[in-house]
Amino acid sequence: MYQLKERFGNTALITGASAGIGKAFSYALAKEGMNLILVARRAEALQQIAEDLQQQFGVAVQVLPQDLQEKNAAKTIQSNIKWPVDVLINNAGFGSYGRFQDLDVSIEENMVDLNCKLTVSLTHALLPSMLERKKGGIIFLSSMVGHMPAPYMATYSATKAFDRFFALSLAGELKNTNIAVLSLHPGDTVSEFREQAHFDKALPGRPRTVENVVHTALSNLGKRPSAIDGLGNRIFGFITRIWPEKRVVNFTSKIWKP
Ligand SMILES: NC(=O)c1ccc[n+]([C@@H]2O[C@H](COP(=O)([O-])OP(=O)(O)OC[C@H]3O[C@@H](n4cnc5c(N)ncnc54)[C@H](OP(=O)(O)O)[C@@H]3O)[C@@H](O)[C@H]2O)c1
Repeated sequence: MYQLKERFGNTALITGASAGIGKAFSYALAKEGMNLILVARRAEALQQIAEDLQQQFGVAVQVLPQDLQEKNAAKTIQSNIKWPVDVLINNAGFGSYGRFQDLDVSIEENMVDLNCKLTVSLTHALLPSMLERKKGGIIFLSSMVGHMPAPYMATYSATKAFDRFFALSLAGELKNTNIAVLSLHPGDTVSEFREQAHFDKALPGRPRTVENVVHTALSNLGKRPSAIDGLGNRIFGFITRIWPEKRVVNFTSKIWKP
């Protein structure tokens, strides 16, 4: 459907493949006939997904259980992967919700480690072999809140702005190579994210599905450096880009206020 194998190669590595958007990426890429390396902490969940993918699509799947917040996680992955990685999906991540001073700072620090530091390390570890083979694709899970400040999700919003700028800068550096980079911006999407972040506030508009988000990613990879999932989110993103910052902060404070 997306002709990913022809354009990018045979194998994809997905971080955070045990649930939500990462799991949906696994199914979409297996459907394309790609072999997969699945990474997350929950080994049993990964194993079940791997067996189902092998049975349904006849692809080869390597399960790599790994806590990506651990020091040297990227190096461990690099030395344990069975095949060179053609498509890297930097998806694993989490958020938190509440007044910054009320949040547990060790969780905020772990979030920076996972959402930003690991993304840098893993991309740095896997990019050279893509450059050698002169093809590849990298998707970074940013967010709508990587486009605009999100009071009461301050650290999370900042990590996603980091992912966005990192992705867009790499897209510029790699523009004359055959390696596509995409900064992906989902809005509210049904997954385990809200529960994990203790985020119970209803947001305007209907939440998107993980399949919607994955379709937006795979249909835009190689065509443009960034993509916002869903028309409502694209309109929201456009408005907040043209407004003065003060107005944006006032507006988003009201939206996210507990
Ligand atoms: N859902 C949304 O509304 C939304 C909106 C915008 C952006 N995003 C972004 O999309 C990405 C995926 O989120 P999601 O909605 O699919 O959330 P999710 O359902 O909570 O899934 C998160 C995934 O990350 C993995 N993970 C978390 N901490 C990890 C760690 N320390 N080491 C290894 N793996 C870890 C989890 O696996 P284990 O628990 O098994 O480790 C799980 O597979 C995140 O980067 C998130 O910021 C989500």
